[in-house]
Amino acid sequence: MSILQKSYGKTLEGDQITEFILQNERGMKVHLINYGAIMTKLFVPDKNNEFADVVLGYDNLEGYLKNPGYFGATIGRNGNRIAGASFEINGVTYQLDKNEGENNLHAGFDGYNKRVWDFTVNEEENEVVFSLISPDKDQGFPGEFKVSVTYKLTSDNAVSIGYEGVSDKDTIANMTNHSYFNLAGHTSNSILDHILWIKASKFVPVVDSAAIPSGELWEVKGTPMDFTSKKAVADEIDADYEQLKFTGGYDHNYALDKRGKEQELIATVEDPKSGRKMEVYTDLPGVQLYAGNFINGDGDVCKDGVVYQKRSGLCLETQYFPDAIHQENFESPILKAGENYKTTTVYKFV
Ligand code: BGC
Repeated sequence: MSILQKSYGKTLEGDQITEFILQNERGMKVHLINYGAIMTKLFVPDKNNEFADVVLGYDNLEGYLKNPGYFGATIGRNGNRIAGASFEINGVTYQLDKNEGENNLHAGFDGYNKRVWDFTVNEEENEVVFSLISPDKDQGFPGEFKVSVTYKLTSDNAVSIGYEGVSDKDTIANMTNHSYFNLAGHTSNSILDHILWIKASKFVPVVDSAAIPSGELWEVKGTPMDFTSKKAVADEIDADYEQLKFTGGYDHNYALDKRGKEQELIATVEDPKSGRKMEVYTDLPGVQLYAGNFINGDGDVCKDGVVYQKRSGLCLETQYFPDAIHQENFESPILKAGENYKTTTVYKFV
């Protein structure tokens, strides 16, 4: 196990950014930067012990300064959408950025994915802890939120991402990681033949193409949304089904069949050709399956000179359900003043 540190250049404001390369005994490597607490590279073995980088990203800081698709990024203070970009807590209305039509996506224009995070390196645990103080009214949210994200690479090929935080006022806390995985390697251009399983008998339907939930939960059974039995992403992604038409393919939250707040295996992804398989564990109630439908290969040259195409990678973003702040039936994303926010998601390669 080792952690190497390197300079990753400077932001336009002159902040020095550091890259961290975590390695384990089996040769797996995770690259992180303290800009956006982003995972930039993830080298994973296939069935012949050949390593490939299985996450989408950029070659340098310049790419991450733009990063419109949030490749590898830490999303906060709230992942996913808030309808009308406003909400009420304790009788006070808070206004957020309208950065997607009338709504707020991933906390607005100045997301935590655009911040320079402090860091500490813990060699013994093979982990890097990124920390940020998000002031009261930051992005429009109430309360000073002191938050940390810990990335750890274990000896059994798991990347564990732990979030902790505390706020001095009641606020929303709903952090996630926005990595796009392609288990055939990030240069291979499509995730359509990946085999997916999601432990969810219900999903969160959306009202229209703005992807705001209606507040209902629908059974996946008998619909193309069903991943309770393994199937290829390609099988039904283009089915003539209104929910998929709204979002141009899978871009929905799954209501996980969980026993409680304990961490559980909630999804698996397999690439049949390379034999790589990823397991996802979380303690959160939902996961957004986003099949990279809006990656448009618009000439943006990314990592290793590749121009990504529609569905070059898929995200499994663990979180509270979208717009949960407006939906009484959804588990509340409110973090009470002084209480500890603590959640962990693990991406394990088996
Ligand atoms: C959303 C997508 C969005 C993507 C990139 C995902 O979490 O569900 O609709 O296009 O993030 O912003």
